[in-house]
Amino acid sequence: MNHIPDATHTHGKRVSTPEQAAHPLDPLNAGEIATVRDVLDEAGLMREHVRVAMLLPRDPSKAAVAAWQPGEPFERRAIATLLDRSDGKHTEVTVSITEERVVEVEELASTPERGQAAVLMEEFFEIADIVKANPEWRAAMERRGLGEYIDTCFCSPLAPGYFPEETEDAGRRYLRSLTYLVPNEGDSPWAHPVEGLIVKVDMIERAVFKVYDEGDVPTPMQHGNFTLDAQGPARTSLKPIDITQPEGPSFSVDGNSVQWENWKLHIGFNSREGLVLSNISWRDGDEDRPVLTRASVPEMVVPYGDIDETRYWVSYFDAGEYLLGRSANPLSLGCDCLGVIHYFDGFVNDDLGNPVKLDQVICMHEEDYGIQWKHTDLDGKPETRRSRRLVISYFATVGNYDYGFFWYFYLDGSIQVEAKATGVVFGGAGLPGTDNPHNTEISPGLFTPVHQHIFSARLDVAVDGEDNTLHEIDVVPLPHGPLNPRGNAFTWSDTQLKSELEAQRMANGLTSRVWEVRSAHRKNYVGKPTSYWLIPEGKAVLQAQPESTVFARANFATKHLWGTQFAEGELYPAGMYPSQSSGWQGLPTWTKADRSLDGEDIVLWHQFGPTHLPRTEDWPVMPVDYSGFWFKPHGFLDQNPTMDLPADARSSCSMTGDGCCDGGCGCCSDGCNCGNKDGCGCGR
Ligand code: NI
Repeated sequence: MNHIPDATHTHGKRVSTPEQAAHPLDPLNAGEIATVRDVLDEAGLMREHVRVAMLLPRDPSKAAVAAWQPGEPFERRAIATLLDRSDGKHTEVTVSITEERVVEVEELASTPERGQAAVLMEEFFEIADIVKANPEWRAAMERRGLGEYIDTCFCSPLAPGYFPEETEDAGRRYLRSLTYLVPNEGDSPWAHPVEGLIVKVDMIERAVFKVYDEGDVPTPMQHGNFTLDAQGPARTSLKPIDITQPEGPSFSVDGNSVQWENWKLHIGFNSREGLVLSNISWRDGDEDRPVLTRASVPEMVVPYGDIDETRYWVSYFDAGEYLLGRSANPLSLGCDCLGVIHYFDGFVNDDLGNPVKLDQVICMHEEDYGIQWKHTDLDGKPETRRSRRLVISYFATVGNYDYGFFWYFYLDGSIQVEAKATGVVFGGAGLPGTDNPHNTEISPGLFTPVHQHIFSARLDVAVDGEDNTLHEIDVVPLPHGPLNPRGNAFTWSDTQLKSELEAQRMANGLTSRVWEVRSAHRKNYVGKPTSYWLIPEGKAVLQAQPESTVFARANFATKHLWGTQFAEGELYPAGMYPSQSSGWQGLPTWTKADRSLDGEDIVLWHQFGPTHLPRTEDWPVMPVDYSGFWFKPHGFLDQNPTMDLPADARSSCSMTGDGCCDGGCGCCSDGCNCGNKDGCGCGR
């Protein structure tokens, strides 16, 4: 019934010669992914039922990257996680792409601690057939009077969490499936959840092993369709805004290396983390001063706060369980940015290890950003300079939700990270008009559980080099007394976080808390260590109780900040395989060693993101919710670095008359995009 393509079909077929990567940190390209597959195949590792669940570049050591000079040869490696679908065994294989050989094979233990590889694409697609063939599920649908929808309904493939008390799960690789009706072709399924019907599917046996069928809550039948066909006609009141850059953008691109104003950086991409930025430096005079060695958002968790049988178990790790990079949107299908866009393609693997191209997966452009600085002095003459930022972004769609990851680089030395959460809120059915402490009713009969989206940013900091110290800075009011005789005074405290156990911290909005990363050797203009501030938003951390399994599994999300001493391979804060893991992997394990952070190579792990009490305005698609943080120079530069910006606003904004198509692209009032020139990004 479930036709699984035979892995041996690819035997010995080399689709292309590997392109030579130009930089040791370049993302894997199509040829390299195909080489890995061929090497695995020739080593006899791609047996009939074996799938490549994850394939990631294995970066060379920092020392090797630092010592590398353009033009020199370098070795390329990748690590593949193989899943044998006949027995559930996991194997990690390190492959040298350069030498076309297997370097290391490690069979992984099948334990709850180790967890499961990410959900395969074929598992996504086959689960519906497995569920729909199950007589108990069919009977449950018939009992609810929903038999007519059996053929068309959607059965979701959901990472199941970890609940050892549910003993029937032991030793299985499984998914939970919830059912959604699709009353008419093309309807949004999320509007029509079948409440109280949960199926557990063993993905090795390809069989249902448990059906929960509880209650009789009617399925809401009001549509949740969101295209203009359903929601139009489109309003006509908005006049066009054109972004034109008649002389082109101000950035330059060489392969995956980018330079824009004072910033230099390298852009990478992989199937798990998505966008990875490396070697981020700030040009100061004739020197490139390091700021961050590597920056990405390698994990996130979406824990739900519902007690209902249908949803208590939900805690999606969208990177570790679903692979954010693999879920990235090819922006060739519709670009979301305006102006002159530079795109980078991305390559991921399919289940059989073949390369898959994600066209234009990373978008880079410049944005006008209002006022950089302004002053009107006593002479009445205003001085104004406009701000601008370089935007590097990608969007991933994981089931019902969409996440945009935006990295902004500013003219004043600041870096901002923004996660945009949008898409369709995940709901269940309830009796219209009733109250529920864990769910809000966002449309009649549609109840959406409270939940969190907690992102983890990994910042391998290098403020003027890798030898850094970490400090917590709080604003401190002073009691009335000798140190504060008139009561007005306040000061700040500076607490050095010298080791990993000291560096597990919470934000504190009441003290304007920030974390300062200092150079251990370099002083600024006024004799203080050069430094950057990590400025958190400080929203809620994980709300689950310490006794819960999600507390152990998403332990990284219980703190706003963790600081670790850099160690190769420590990339994922919930561990390599969070799916079905019993937890405590990643950060809580690594930091037991309590390594020094005093003048060491420091990595910051910063947790941020919204806690979502869904509202009616989030339906049928939620407006973007923004969360993030800043990484800002604080004593890194000797003065405001934007004093030399031109006063001519035209250099910074877009009032170029009918400059459409002059040397670049832009949007005309009729919405043209300049004859589809490469790089034009009007989205039409
Ligand atoms: Ni949400």
